[in-house]
Amino acid sequence: MPLKNLYIKPRMKNELQQLESSALKALKEVKTLDELKDLEVKFLGRKGELTGILRGLKDLSPAEKPEMGALSNTVKKKLEAAFASKQQKLENDSLEQQLSGQFFDTTIPGKSRPIGHIHPLSQIQEEVERIFSQMGFSIADGPEIESEYYNFEGLNIPADHPARDMQDTFFIEGKDHKDHGRMVLRTHTSPVQVRSMEKYGAPLRLIVPGRVFRNEATDASHDHTFDQVEGILIDENISIAHLKGVMKEFLTRLFGKEVNVRFRPGYFPFVEPGLELDFSCLICEGKGCRVCKKTGWVEFMGSGMIHENVLKAGGVDHKKYQGWAFGFGLTRLVMMRYGIDDIRHLTNGDLRFNHQF
Ligand code: PHE
Repeated sequence: MPLKNLYIKPRMKNELQQLESSALKALKEVKTLDELKDLEVKFLGRKGELTGILRGLKDLSPAEKPEMGALSNTVKKKLEAAFASKQQKLENDSLEQQLSGQFFDTTIPGKSRPIGHIHPLSQIQEEVERIFSQMGFSIADGPEIESEYYNFEGLNIPADHPARDMQDTFFIEGKDHKDHGRMVLRTHTSPVQVRSMEKYGAPLRLIVPGRVFRNEATDASHDHTFDQVEGILIDENISIAHLKGVMKEFLTRLFGKEVNVRFRPGYFPFVEPGLELDFSCLICEGKGCRVCKKTGWVEFMGSGMIHENVLKAGGVDHKKYQGWAFGFGLTRLVMMRYGIDDIRHLTNGDLRFNHQF
């Protein structure tokens, strides 16, 4: 071994120790991630100081090489670990700094988003649909903008009939149907009677929940827009007894307690005989109270055996089939069910009202 090479090992050892201590010292002064990066390149980079020292390895004797190799490796590992932990610390510090300007109370519950819920009218509608479905009725639909024919003539109410006065109508200007007269906002769900007979024929068993419109001055119990449910049953040998049974069962299931029904005569041009159906007051159980005006009964709906002319309009063989129809106010049912005293609450969109249900 040339003499000068005798000094290589101690010098190298010394250099490595120097490198380690000066790198660790410099590391303490580092304040930013950028500075850290620069320092890492300076000491550990490809052209850095450690690499420079290691270049001397090749001049060592075979016996010295492993020892110095191991030492340089230890230094390298130690410095890498020191750089990594400094990096971690700087990153945490910067996050802390970002948040330090803001007040951050970890005990405050998170912001909850308001969740919508089902409108009372829809809730009852769903219940009505469920109960009638259980009794084998289909759920049907019809247009809210209707022709004068389906809304009136088809239901045995000709243009000059006084019964037209019962329902103040919104007519739609300039949109007359080519052979079904003027267009109207349907005043009841009954137009679906003829529509569904035309579409499905007899036998028929369905209900039609839907929106209807009347040209009314609004007050606590009248609105220009409200909801009804139409019911139709057509088959052979159908009588009012079936209607009574179906309605008693429906109301009993809806209110969850035994309800009685009674008929009074009523007039609607599309039924004969025409009937009003009342149910026993649920508040006083028939004894008489303010709600039922001391009668023990609550007026509920119009109904009756479907008029021959209506069956004919729907193309149903009136000699073979007969049936009944009813129409009740879904809106009124909701008001009774929840004790709502002003119909306008249901459509004015005030969330303070809606959130009570
Ligand atoms: N359509 C009638 C109304 O709105 C109610 C009704 C329907 C009456 C079916 C008899 C038969 O007043």
